[in-house]
Amino acid sequence: MRAAFAHQYGPPQSVSVSTTATPHPAPHEILVKVQAASVTAADARLRAGTFPPGFTPIARAVFGITRPRNPILGSSFSGIVVKVGDKIQGLTPGQEVCGMTGMAMGAHAEFLTIKPEKVTHKPAEVNHDDAAAIMFGGSTALYFLRDLGNLHSGMSVLVNGASGDLGTQAVQLAHHAGARVTAVTSAVNTDLVRSLGATSIHDYHATPVTEINEQFDIVFDTVGNISPRQGKKLITPDGTLLLAVASLRETLIARGQVKAGAAPERVGDFDYLLEQLRQGHLRSVIEQRMTLDDIAIAHARVSSGRKVGSIIVHPHHAE
Ligand SMILES: NC(=O)c1ccc[n+]([C@@H]2O[C@H](COP(=O)([O-])OP(=O)(O)OC[C@H]3O[C@@H](n4cnc5c(N)ncnc54)[C@H](OP(=O)(O)O)[C@@H]3O)[C@@H](O)[C@H]2O)c1
Repeated sequence: MRAAFAHQYGPPQSVSVSTTATPHPAPHEILVKVQAASVTAADARLRAGTFPPGFTPIARAVFGITRPRNPILGSSFSGIVVKVGDKIQGLTPGQEVCGMTGMAMGAHAEFLTIKPEKVTHKPAEVNHDDAAAIMFGGSTALYFLRDLGNLHSGMSVLVNGASGDLGTQAVQLAHHAGARVTAVTSAVNTDLVRSLGATSIHDYHATPVTEINEQFDIVFDTVGNISPRQGKKLITPDGTLLLAVASLRETLIARGQVKAGAAPERVGDFDYLLEQLRQGHLRSVIEQRMTLDDIAIAHARVSSGRKVGSIIVHPHHAE
């Protein structure tokens, strides 16, 4: 099969496509033909080998000291089951599934193997691109806003980085929950974030987020430019500061109204997001669709920090 390989930590051009043996599913695994996979901020961090301050030694111990342990990156995908292991029950070839591969990565390839408990059925009404696009930003935004922020109707929510993968999903989830959404983005993305449900929008070039003279029930930082001390000034006395990007120190000392950490990958959350997509309460925001051959271009765009929503790669050439 063809797959994108990052054999070294390095710049976007260090990722290239080559062929390798198609994996065989172990008895408790399925083999999935990947129809669409997202190229995410996590993929770009893993490719570059750079992580928020303090995390690099830990992350490299987990993902590879001198180079990515699994050179095939990519985690969020949607595809078709083509083979099942001997011990698999309840999944058969031909079924459409989507999910996240976690630390195993491996989604930027024509095929991947995965345990069935990490995938869910893709509803027929949701296409592969939308399913792959929703996983990363959607599940992270859901975890932070709903689980850590106790998001509910009537709240005021500030989303910093509203045009990114996490931000576009956070704006929609908060809006759909009945919250009043304030977005921080640049002028060029104003119309987009308004269309997603933001009613108040700040261009950070004109007003840096930390200078917004207002307080919110939830502040969700997806950029990493709000310190806990600055963020506390932006929340109401009972408010919550949610840091999707935080240094190791900030993560370790986060308590009370300040919350940080890694979002889990839960099939129940994928199902929730897919159902919201199916019902039209949520939409994917896909900036570009590319072939696997353009993987380095995709990585460069993600690493630019300017990506809007998601970038999707199609590992198979159109048939
Ligand atoms: N804690 C967790 O579990 C977890 C999970 C997933 C991701 N993350 C982290 O969350 C971060 C965001 O991920 P993502 O996928 O949303 O990234 P992304 O899609 O690459 O974000 C890019 C967006 O950020 C906007 N942006 C850049 N600088 C900004 C600023 N100063 N103010 C406001 N917006 C700004 C850009 O808009 P403009 O071009 O308009 O500036 C662009 O649309 C990453 O660092 C990722 O590693 C954490």
